[in-house]
Amino acid sequence: MIGAVQLGVLAACIVVLVPMALAGWHLSRNKVLFFGGALFISLAVAVHLFPYFPSITDFFPDVSSSSSSSSSTLVVLENRESCLSFLHRIQWRNHPRNVNISSSWKWVLSDENVLACDFQKLGRNDVGDLLNGSWVMVAGDSQARLFVLSLLDLVLFEEEMVSVRGDLFKRHSDYHLVVDRVGLKLDFVWAPYVNNLTHMVLGLNRNHSCPDVLVMGSGLWHMLHVNNATHYDSSLQLLSRSLMPLLVGKSQPHLFWLGMPTLVNSMLNTEEKREKMSSETLYAYELGFRGAKLLRPGGPFVLLDIQSLSENCGVRCTEDGMHYDGVVYEAAVHVMLNALLIQSQQKL
Ligand SMILES: *[C@@H]1O[C@H](CO)[C@@H](O)[C@H](O)[C@H]1NC(C)=O
Ligand SMILES: *[C@@H]1O[C@H](CO)[C@@H](O)[C@H](O)[C@H]1NC(C)=O
Ligand SMILES: *[C@@H]1O[C@H](CO)[C@@H](O)[C@H](O)[C@H]1NC(C)=O
Ligand SMILES: *[C@@H]1O[C@H](CO)[C@@H](O)[C@H](O)[C@H]1NC(C)=O
Ligand SMILES: *[C@@H]1O[C@H](CO)[C@@H](O)[C@H](O)[C@H]1NC(C)=O
Repeated sequence: MIGAVQLGVLAACIVVLVPMALAGWHLSRNKVLFFGGALFISLAVAVHLFPYFPSITDFFPDVSSSSSSSSSTLVVLENRESCLSFLHRIQWRNHPRNVNISSSWKWVLSDENVLACDFQKLGRNDVGDLLNGSWVMVAGDSQARLFVLSLLDLVLFEEEMVSVRGDLFKRHSDYHLVVDRVGLKLDFVWAPYVNNLTHMVLGLNRNHSCPDVLVMGSGLWHMLHVNNATHYDSSLQLLSRSLMPLLVGKSQPHLFWLGMPTLVNSMLNTEEKREKMSSETLYAYELGFRGAKLLRPGGPFVLLDIQSLSENCGVRCTEDGMHYDGVVYEAAVHVMLNALLIQSQQKL
């Protein structure tokens, strides 16, 4: 009788080794070295091997009579892409404002889907491995700027961050950085309106250049200065069309949409903001955004859901009801990095 364990090992080897062989081919072809060997192997083994042992019995019910208790991990394994939808299952730990400790977060490990997906907070070396040789572009408003700061916080050493913080906080300007140590090229493009994003994408098309990772998001400026959700929706449709050439090109970018934050109306710092950025308007903009179908599975973007992250971190995590503590954007960065891990395997 063939033991379930032997079958499991065989299946696990195929599942782990075939993608790894393909990965070598695929990644070198694209010159995008997403994986240092160690990180890839350990994650691949953890992800594939762990859920396989119990679930193999589901495929071969005759081999073992022991009933499997982990059908949900099987679902996840069959379609690792489904892990993308569990990435925001994050819980927060807050402290009162007068206790000067910032909030912290972790994935909800009591959730068996989260457990099976094995999300990781990546350390500096792992992030370096993951982004080695990559071009990352982040475009948007101050939310995008805060996101870049949190990303660089993970990549750079503290002494390197000092000058970066100064440069990045020059208001309303672009920022370019090459981290030689990691082979990472990073661009921040100041693009407060959706049409600025479209303009930038058209520039990429013209230049026949395409970042490996493209993060964008915009909405707050439009809400404050244009205040017309219908117009916002149609500018998003234009953006969506401008992206088509990038999406059919030979090296397609990983696209992330940086959602708008939860707005705490009473904390907004001008009367104009409190009036125009009401929860009704925010809701209308949210509907406009959904209507434009930018998000997967219909569209190309994976959502970095700043709205839910900021809402769950709560009012203790913001001073002005709009910009949140670094920890919120740090969570979004880890969501993105884990999505990249998932997608890079999926693309094989
Ligand atoms: C909390 O600590 C930070 C530095 O860690 C400091 O900049 C800030 O002023 C402190 N806030 C309060 C309310 O003590
Ligand atoms: C990045 O990749 C290059 C060549 O692919 C390698 O020489 C370098 O050591 C890598 N750097 C890191 C930080 O992994
Ligand atoms: C963004 O778009 C606005 C409105 O069309 C325009 O006035 C502004 O100059 C653009 N900003 C950048 C940085 O391109
Ligand atoms: C396109 O190339 C030009 C010239 O190299 C550069 O100045 C510009 O920033 C590029 N545009 C984009 C969106 O990368
Ligand atoms: C809002 O934008 C739409 C589409 O651009 C336009 O047709 C409509 O007139 C605008 N509404 C207002 C109140 O300006």
